[in-house]
Amino acid sequence: MTGRAYRVPPIFITLGLLVLASDTADSPKGPSHWGDLKPEWKTCKTGMSQSPIDISSRSAIILRDSNVFQTCYIPGDAIIRNRGHDISVWWELGKAGSILFNGTSYSLQQCHWHSPSEHSIDGSRYDMELHMVHFGPANEIVVISNLYHSGSPNGFLSHVSGQIQSLIDKKEEMPIGAVDPRHIKEDGKNYYQYTGSLTTPPCSQGITWIINQKVLTVSSDQVDLLRQAVFDYAKENARPLQPINGRQVYLHTPTNQ
Ligand SMILES: *[C@@H]1O[C@H](CO)[C@@H](O)[C@H](O)[C@H]1NC(C)=O
Repeated sequence: MTGRAYRVPPIFITLGLLVLASDTADSPKGPSHWGDLKPEWKTCKTGMSQSPIDISSRSAIILRDSNVFQTCYIPGDAIIRNRGHDISVWWELGKAGSILFNGTSYSLQQCHWHSPSEHSIDGSRYDMELHMVHFGPANEIVVISNLYHSGSPNGFLSHVSGQIQSLIDKKEEMPIGAVDPRHIKEDGKNYYQYTGSLTTPPCSQGITWIINQKVLTVSSDQVDLLRQAVFDYAKENARPLQPINGRQVYLHTPTNQ
């Protein structure tokens, strides 16, 4: 935790207002057309380091380090928001704590869900992906991502499912009191890392992606609820895979393994 005052970067204010059509890549406002819809979204088409990607576990370079990042999360007052294209939980920047990554502190701003997963591992796509978006002192973005397959209910989603119910098909938001990001329980040891982009317009690049190799579980009812809550065009709100263009993926593994 730092006592520094953070400002919300303009791109995220914009993102909150967008209506994104993500149903199929080919629909007129779908992901394959984002780059043509607005000049500010050009990077979605021209960017050479876009996300998501398929991660090949075999070609990842192994880095032996004990703690790729440390979490210093604390409970903070949050709001839950249906942006139409996804459901997200927002904290005031700095009020829910931070991660320490590579010597820099990044504050947690929001998390949101995609289903199916956006990233795939060795060609497998999972049922859901959670993105935890963090901002550094110069507004650098680090996203921690967790992948989920069908199984036991996810504790963090259970915690907010009542509120998600009341946001079904409503582009609204509501305060939900203190939410502890530690309930997300990533429980990871090995993490992939690569440099990519936001997976929604404006598809800004230079984003550090940290992806938990351990796949967690979510119940099919919970995935159904998320799909029911968002607008019809976004029932499947995962951007298609993007070319890797020679980028290197790293796998952080504890030294004792
Ligand atoms: C940490 O930061 C240094 C200096 O900017 C950079 O060279 C290095 O690649 C970074 N490490 C990771 C794991 O991102």
